[in-house]
Amino acid sequence: MAASTHNLTLIPGDGIGPEVTAAVVTVLDVAGVAINWDRQDAGIVAFERTGQTLPAELLDSVTRNTVALKGPCTTPVGEGFASVNVGLRKALDLFANVRPVNNLPGVTSRFSGVDLVIVRENTEDLYAGLEHVIVPGIVESLKIITEAASTRIAEFAFAYARRERRTRVTAVHKANIMKLGDGLFLDSVRAVSRRFQDVTYDERIVDAACMHLVMRPEQFDVLVMPNLYGDIVSDLCAGLVGGLGVVPGANLGANLAVFEAVHGSAPDIAGRDLANPTALLLSAVMMLRHLGEMEAADRVKAALDQVMSAGRIRTRDVGGTASTTDFTRALCEAMT
Ligand code: NAI
Repeated sequence: MAASTHNLTLIPGDGIGPEVTAAVVTVLDVAGVAINWDRQDAGIVAFERTGQTLPAELLDSVTRNTVALKGPCTTPVGEGFASVNVGLRKALDLFANVRPVNNLPGVTSRFSGVDLVIVRENTEDLYAGLEHVIVPGIVESLKIITEAASTRIAEFAFAYARRERRTRVTAVHKANIMKLGDGLFLDSVRAVSRRFQDVTYDERIVDAACMHLVMRPEQFDVLVMPNLYGDIVSDLCAGLVGGLGVVPGANLGANLAVFEAVHGSAPDIAGRDLANPTALLLSAVMMLRHLGEMEAADRVKAALDQVMSAGRIRTRDVGGTASTTDFTRALCEAMT
């Protein structure tokens, strides 16, 4: 165990967020990691208290602590406030969204041997949120692609591949149709690929990439792509290994890191003690490694693997009947 206490920001979010973050805080505590959590509201909860969905004190807290663990935040569909999740990534320049997709022991899924990582550009593309009505009945939504952001995410993906001893980076794009926008993304990734001769580089058009992913996902290694494709392909890939309850993620900037699961606030099961905390727990394992807490990370991952392999106590989304509370208790018992 590292000697010092970590000061970290905790953003419980809403929907199933408070349930899964509480579960993860309990597990990390039992794992023996010394953490002072600075709890911060975001989204609907923050709006009700402060009138803002992304309060300055939250941004200050993450900037001060440099690392945060975040639960999901609901975004209203077609109306209402802009996404807090997108806003946070932009405000803190968390430009790289890293989503490792692996089979978990004991979790039945359509494929075995899936071991890929999605690297999603996090700051631009259609998520720039620039939309306007030209005349009633016609809306223009702007897709922003810059050489700077495309080069930065490509450099991140290749450096990540090299550091993690991965062998291939695949750029996912639609440059056959969006010749300028995705064309610029692709040119930028190609230029970076020439500086990383030890990493194999290839390209797939996004629609074909989806077909290949659902037929032979084990052929993929690191995939780098613009924001929107990254969002959609991440959920598709979660479906390859057991669903949204089991896939973690990290939003990384130059100095700041916010760890959060791929899934959303799951309003259909919120408040019912049904949510699977595994995705956020695996995000926390990524966070522990980021903090240099390697032993604690291994201990938590081993407990998760043990409980999942035993198969007696699992949440409903992965074929069991256990509640969030029961599953969390089993994880804690596996570490004691
Ligand atoms: P969702 O990921 O919340 O749920 C999709 C399906 O997966 C639901 O059936 C849900 O019950 C299930 N699911 C998700 N996480 C689960 C877990 N941990 N355990 C068990 N089952 C789980 O996606 P949806 O319904 O499209 O979005 C709901 C809200 O979440 C929206 O407001 C959306 O904008 C927001 N959202 C927030 C994200 C974030 O905070 N980073 C990411 C994605 C969506």
